[in-house]
Amino acid sequence: MMLVVLRVVVCVHMLIILDLSYCDIQGPISSPFSNLTRLTSLNLAENHLNGSIPSSLLNLQRLTDLDLSWNKLSGQIPNVFDRITNLQTLSLHDNNFQGMLPSSLFTLTRLSQLDCSYNQIEGPLPNELLSNNIIGWSKFSGKFPQLEYLELSNNKLEGKVPKWIHDIPSLFHLKLSHNMFTFLNGSIPSSLSNLHHLVYLVLSRNNLSGKIPNLPSSLFTLTRLSQLDCSSNQIEGPLSDKVAFSNLTELFLEALQLLSNNIIGYSKFSGNFPQLKYLELSNNKLEGKVPKWIHDIHSLIHLKLSHNMFTSIGPISSPFSNLTHLTSLNLAGNQLNSSIPSSLLNLQRLTHLDLSMNDLSGQIPNVFDRLTNLQTLSLHDNNFQGKLPSSLFALTQLSSLDYSNNEIEGPLPNKL
Ligand SMILES: *[C@@H]1O[C@H](CO)[C@@H](O)[C@H](O)[C@H]1NC(C)=O
Ligand SMILES: *[C@@H]1O[C@H](CO)[C@@H](O)[C@H](O)[C@H]1NC(C)=O
Ligand SMILES: *[C@@H]1O[C@H](CO)[C@@H](O)[C@H](O)[C@H]1NC(C)=O
Ligand SMILES: *[C@@H]1O[C@H](CO)[C@@H](O)[C@H](O)[C@H]1NC(C)=O
Ligand SMILES: *[C@@H]1O[C@H](CO)[C@@H](O)[C@H](O)[C@H]1NC(C)=O
Ligand SMILES: *[C@@H]1O[C@H](CO)[C@@H](O)[C@H](O)[C@H]1NC(C)=O
Ligand SMILES: *[C@@H]1O[C@H](CO)[C@@H](O)[C@H](O)[C@H]1NC(C)=O
Repeated sequence: MMLVVLRVVVCVHMLIILDLSYCDIQGPISSPFSNLTRLTSLNLAENHLNGSIPSSLLNLQRLTDLDLSWNKLSGQIPNVFDRITNLQTLSLHDNNFQGMLPSSLFTLTRLSQLDCSYNQIEGPLPNELLSNNIIGWSKFSGKFPQLEYLELSNNKLEGKVPKWIHDIPSLFHLKLSHNMFTFLNGSIPSSLSNLHHLVYLVLSRNNLSGKIPNLPSSLFTLTRLSQLDCSSNQIEGPLSDKVAFSNLTELFLEALQLLSNNIIGYSKFSGNFPQLKYLELSNNKLEGKVPKWIHDIHSLIHLKLSHNMFTSIGPISSPFSNLTHLTSLNLAGNQLNSSIPSSLLNLQRLTHLDLSMNDLSGQIPNVFDRLTNLQTLSLHDNNFQGKLPSSLFALTQLSSLDYSNNEIEGPLPNKL
């Protein structure tokens, strides 16, 4: 297969665009590609290529787009990007590349998309972008002036998130998750709010620390943001920035994930998130009542508040009743100690409900005929009493039901 393909290729020296993605090609990248000197776009994604990138591949001086993603390539990425200065998109993700990112990569001033995620790349990012040996270059401000998409997640990168990342005005997609990054001054800096075009900001699973009020005041001015994920870092402090959250009427945030930090309190926090669909604040130290502003996010589809210290579902008589789009509600591992308010079971679209590991008591209300879409129901490790309600057994979509470790009594129905 490989030989046949390459014969064809070598005959076609005039080739400008070559797409051999999904072709089942195995073995190393062979040298004939380097004779295709007119090539501007080379796509070898989704094959079984292994070995390292031959540096001859990067002799293709006209190359603007190179995609080697989803292969088994390994070794260091060769430090010869100064030969292909026209490169605009580079996709190396989902391989086994090791070592540091080569310094010449950071001279590619025309880059608009760089994706090196899901490799074993290690070491720090350069503090400064290197000059390109062009006289007078240092006077240019942005050195990645066209970069829109920067994806370095799931590697072994460490050290500080360099200042130049905060200075790429065109960036709309920034994902650095699953590395060991820290920020310059320890906490998430306000200068990230220079990135006015950001739509996706994912910093989860790093070593970022900081007080939570610092996070909103800088980031929540990014009005195009649709995903903000700072989960599993070392962020701590009260969720109580009354200033920064007051003007959020146009924040197009669709997902806010701050789970697994050390966030405490929320009392003064008053967000207004008209588009928020996905909210996760689980594994923090939030206590007291589930705050009113959460009950007011009409757009929510997924709400996960598990493993906090909430003692009450809400300040109002019919909690969550306005969240009519909710399909998944997880309140597990809190200290809720009332009975289940029957209004909770008005959420007709609910497919997943987890109330396990609380101190909920009383009878389980017999109103499951309202929840006909329910697929999973976890009520285990509470203090529920009485019989299982008959309406529970009419749930035809249910695939998982766990009510262990309660004080439920009586027989199960003979027939469903
Ligand atoms: C590539 O080009 C070089 C020099 O032009 C030539 O010697 C070599 O045979 C070519 N390789 C292939 C596989 O065509
Ligand atoms: C590449 O894969 C082939 C089998 O497809 C294997 O024989 C060869 O040893 C591999 N080479 C490397 C460098 O892993
Ligand atoms: C770090 O702190 C110094 C001194 O407080 C400040 O001048 C600088 O702007 C901060 N850097 C960032 C990225 O926030
Ligand atoms: C995480 O950051 C702290 C300082 O903020 C530092 O002492 C520690 O070594 C860092 N951990 C890793 C794994 O980089
Ligand atoms: C919120 O909006 C008001 C009125 O437009 C303005 O005066 C205030 O500075 C804004 N607050 C923030 C934190 O942007
Ligand atoms: C539901 O929303 C309406 C309209 O925004 C509001 O008046 C009412 O107080 C809300 N109810 C609850 C229980 O939050
Ligand atoms: C529930 O817990 C709160 C706070 O710990 C307590 O004040 C209240 O009496 C408890 N209610 C019940 C029914 O146990």
